[in-house]
Amino acid sequence: MNRIVGTGMAVPPCVVDNHLLSRCMNTSDAWIVQRTGIRERRVSPDTYRMLQRLAEAPDKAAFMKSVLADGLDGKIDSSMTVSDLALQASERALENAGLTAADVDCLVVSSTVPDFAYPHPGCVLAGRLALTATPAICLQQGCAGFLYGLAVADQMMRGGMYRQVLVVGAELLSTIFDYTDAGRDMAVLFADGAGAAVLRNEPGPRGVLSSHLHTDGTTYESLAGELWGTSTYPPVSKRKFDEDRMRPRMNGRQVFVQAVRHFKEVVGECLAANGVGLGDVNRFIFHQANMRIIEAVGEGLRIPSDRLYNNIERYGNTAAASVPIALHEAREAGLVKDGDLVLLAAFGTGFSWGATLIRW
Ligand SMILES: CC(C)(COP(=O)(O)OP(=O)(O)OC[C@H]1O[C@@H](n2cnc3c(N)ncnc32)[C@H](O)[C@@H]1OP(=O)(O)O)[C@@H](O)C(=O)NCCC(=O)NCCS
Repeated sequence: MNRIVGTGMAVPPCVVDNHLLSRCMNTSDAWIVQRTGIRERRVSPDTYRMLQRLAEAPDKAAFMKSVLADGLDGKIDSSMTVSDLALQASERALENAGLTAADVDCLVVSSTVPDFAYPHPGCVLAGRLALTATPAICLQQGCAGFLYGLAVADQMMRGGMYRQVLVVGAELLSTIFDYTDAGRDMAVLFADGAGAAVLRNEPGPRGVLSSHLHTDGTTYESLAGELWGTSTYPPVSKRKFDEDRMRPRMNGRQVFVQAVRHFKEVVGECLAANGVGLGDVNRFIFHQANMRIIEAVGEGLRIPSDRLYNNIERYGNTAAASVPIALHEAREAGLVKDGDLVLLAAFGTGFSWGATLIRW
């Protein structure tokens, strides 16, 4: 079986609460808490500096446009990238497992918005870990990314290809949103962070029991970011910028409804595949998309709330990083113990979703 023997996480030091956002856009702490459960989130130092300036700007839209055109304070180089966070989380997970990067046979890295259009942050991370021949498998599966990564790693290990794999979910999403009224539906939700886990093949009954993955590609437009990309020619243009097509878009209601439906379905599928009931699961760790989504799933399935681990109020939605961050925190808090059944589930852009059951 393939067991998680180390976990780690990293978040930027800059904390943005709902009050700061309320000074940038027409929103309020009460609206955000009531609709999402989020009270604060971590963002890159660049986003943080930008938000402080935006809060003071008399014409928010003009200020945001000027940042998009010229960067902040005449600078367009980032002071933090997604691979910086991936590196910190990876180093912590490796240390937690008592390993060094040279001990792992493969990296599986999920990230939605990369440092470069290519190569993917998985390759950049491999370089930052000084790995010169270890394969980096790179996934861009949005919020379900860590679960897809775990399944890929587990199956390769079951096949005997690798014995120790580092699985990472890392995101620096705060840098792509419009923090004025025009982008407020998404800007209040998403944030930055990274989480990592080391999987090791060991004899015995502990480890990943099964993974269940799905994608409904007919819905991809409901949660999408054109940024650069071949949906336009050329992939990046002044016109794309002027027409605001660089910005991510979301049909919040559709995401909400589909997320609740697919979370419930895939949890049921995962339990049935293993012949266990809801009451047998000691800890449910769901992607921290939105507290109302988690509550709707919990109520629909009748999961006792003390079996769910949630930290969305402190971190917001960190996409591929959210499950490994929550798993790491739950483990550190002693809420995941040897022998426990732990169920992970996630849903996001694509739409892609999945669930994994682990005997800890
Ligand atoms: C985004 C979401 C919170 C919006 O909540 P909602 O109840 O669906 O709200 P609506 O879309 O009906 O919008 C209600 C109003 O709030 C406004 N609004 C949107 N974002 C707002 C914000 N941050 N602050 C204040 N008002 C906001 C809307 O513009 C709308 O105004 P209008 O009635 O004048 O048009 C909700 O749809 C949601 O949680 N969706 C899932 C999103 C998600 O989890 N995405 C990631 C999945 S991985």
